Amino acid sequence: MEALKARIADQLAQARSRTAGLADAVDDDDLVRQHSPLMSPLVWDLAHVGNQEELWLVRDVGGREPVRSDIDQLYDAFRHPRGRRPQLPLLGPAEARGYVGTVRDKVLDVLDRVELAGGQLVDGGFAFGMIVQHEQQHDETMLATHQLRSGEPVLAAPPPPPARALVAGEVVVPGGPFTMGTSTEPWALDNERPAHLVDVPAFAIDAAPVTNGQYAMFIADRGYDDPRWWTAEGWQHRVAAGLVAPMHWVPDGDRWAYTRFGRTAPVVADEPVLHVCFHEARAYASWAGRRLPTEPEWEKAARFDPATGESRRYPWGDADPTPEHANLGQRHLSPAVVGAYPAGASPLGVHQLIGDVWEWVDTGFAGYPGFTAFPYREYSEVFFGPDYQVLRGGSFGTDPAACRGTFRNWDYPVRRQIFAGFRCARDLRPGEVH
Ligand SMILES: [Fe+2]
Repeated sequence: MEALKARIADQLAQARSRTAGLADAVDDDDLVRQHSPLMSPLVWDLAHVGNQEELWLVRDVGGREPVRSDIDQLYDAFRHPRGRRPQLPLLGPAEARGYVGTVRDKVLDVLDRVELAGGQLVDGGFAFGMIVQHEQQHDETMLATHQLRSGEPVLAAPPPPPARALVAGEVVVPGGPFTMGTSTEPWALDNERPAHLVDVPAFAIDAAPVTNGQYAMFIADRGYDDPRWWTAEGWQHRVAAGLVAPMHWVPDGDRWAYTRFGRTAPVVADEPVLHVCFHEARAYASWAGRRLPTEPEWEKAARFDPATGESRRYPWGDADPTPEHANLGQRHLSPAVVGAYPAGASPLGVHQLIGDVWEWVDTGFAGYPGFTAFPYREYSEVFFGPDYQVLRGGSFGTDPAACRGTFRNWDYPVRRQIFAGFRCARDLRPGEVH
């Protein structure tokens, strides 16, 4: 129990240190400014993180008096769309910092006294884990806001590792049932549960995400001008939004450059492509004579171990991610090139499924068989349906606490400000032996 509490305290501290770093990187004017209608002002994320922590850990788990019940509605994400948040009477930067600090002090006191057993919310520290993941997810959102802000660079990090293995082509995943989702991962969210068997026919999947170099060939082949490669909905969006290349790409003579966190550099051909929407991913796949993997295919490629027939927590096994396994946690400010993480490959030899870029899959967001909303419908269930497309695997901006083989993310198919790319798959041809 003490070890679990120490781990929770450590994870809470890590999340807060990242939040503070992202907020403190800019001045107060920048914190309250809206850098894009797609995003909240950074100061909204900051206080919202504290408000959710207060609601779940101070009031619900701790049974304590509210700290600031008067601001609950300001930070209710369902009540105010991002574009309207700057007009709200939000806490200012100093007030927001003071508020999240007060809440955190109370939470550490609650953690000290609480019994982490005897109820679904506290068993295994679930509510604390949910709040750690929530803060880390907002940190990734704040990182995306940093990518959208203009002005001088304010974030720095060492470059990701170089290629350490030659990774190319595709991997055949054998047909048959595998266990998808989890019933045992203590901090898994409701949408990852329960574990269930899914029969996935044999298929082939790319050993690595689609790269900038590959994607540039689609652009050069006028893929953005050819409705054959796009769905009707995708083409309509392509035209209406005037898409011609991934977000943040700019022409650079006869090549491409991109802007990242305020710095412009030539596009690196071997890096996974980033900042493409679902429609662009799907169009590329059609042009390449392939398709996107389904969500069960993606998870089987990531977790299925043919030697044991079991599903792993991660492609490399059950151990928590280390810097050798995957590009996670904002250690770097870009995806790593293909081949940079041989130690993170799946048993079948599929690389970089975890970290680098979120991967669009060709499946809408829905509950697994036996889904039960927990701890509230607003976590996942209200998003189920055809409007949202699933993304898997996490990005360089995703913390290990909010990323695992079963973790599911979702967004609108037109979204490009998130750190998303994709890989392709295909059915096996008749007579292809497997
Ligand atoms: Fe939130």
